[in-house]
Amino acid sequence: MGQNANLTIALSKGRILGETLPLLECAGLRPEEDLYTTRQLMVDAAGGVRFLLIRAADVCTYVEQGAADMGIVGRDLLLEHRPHVYEPLDLGIGRCRLCIAGPADLVARGRPEAGSRLRVATKYDHLAEQYYMAEGVHADIIHLYGSMELAPLVGMADRIVDLVETGSTLAANNLVEEHTLYDISSRLVVNPASFATRRLRITPVINAFSNAINELKHCTT
Ligand code: PRP
Repeated sequence: MGQNANLTIALSKGRILGETLPLLECAGLRPEEDLYTTRQLMVDAAGGVRFLLIRAADVCTYVEQGAADMGIVGRDLLLEHRPHVYEPLDLGIGRCRLCIAGPADLVARGRPEAGSRLRVATKYDHLAEQYYMAEGVHADIIHLYGSMELAPLVGMADRIVDLVETGSTLAANNLVEEHTLYDISSRLVVNPASFATRRLRITPVINAFSNAINELKHCTT
């Protein structure tokens, strides 16, 4: 398992896996196991590649540490953690937005005034802090790992900073969007040392992803 591979790519097991698989297929990187169902965390693929299946938030760490040469990771995590990695390609998958949202009645009162104080539940502590600092609002950040939408419902937070794709989770929990901070999509990232020392191995894989994006665009238009 993974012993003969000479290129390691870190993938997220999260909700973008469904969009990642056609891209891998199209790039000629077909895994030997079904990445959806396997319990293996390291899976060989065609062309001397092996995949690591990890949590989205850990992809940057594996690539930054050089345990993976490349990875696929959301722009949200790159903005939040600012890892030291190259980001050669926007893969155009996992499209969503990073938003501020809150209960409809609070949001209807307008954006918080400069000098006011607010409790903000998020896993994007840095981005939330940065935004509210620029607004002159004192944000007490409440760090959560998921299901942010619950925090305002139980009176623990006035706002959340979280990803919104269809908007159905917000709607189901009586929350509304107040402001979009960033448009998000998944990016191909590369370890800088790997790129410097193994450019001939890595460049064709970047090109294969680039071609795959274009091919898939044509398939869906
Ligand atoms: C993400 C995000 C929102 C939801 C948004 O959560 O954090 O909760 O999806 O999607 P929607 O706009 O299409 O409803 P995810 O399901 O990935 O789980 P998490 O809350 O544990 O992060």
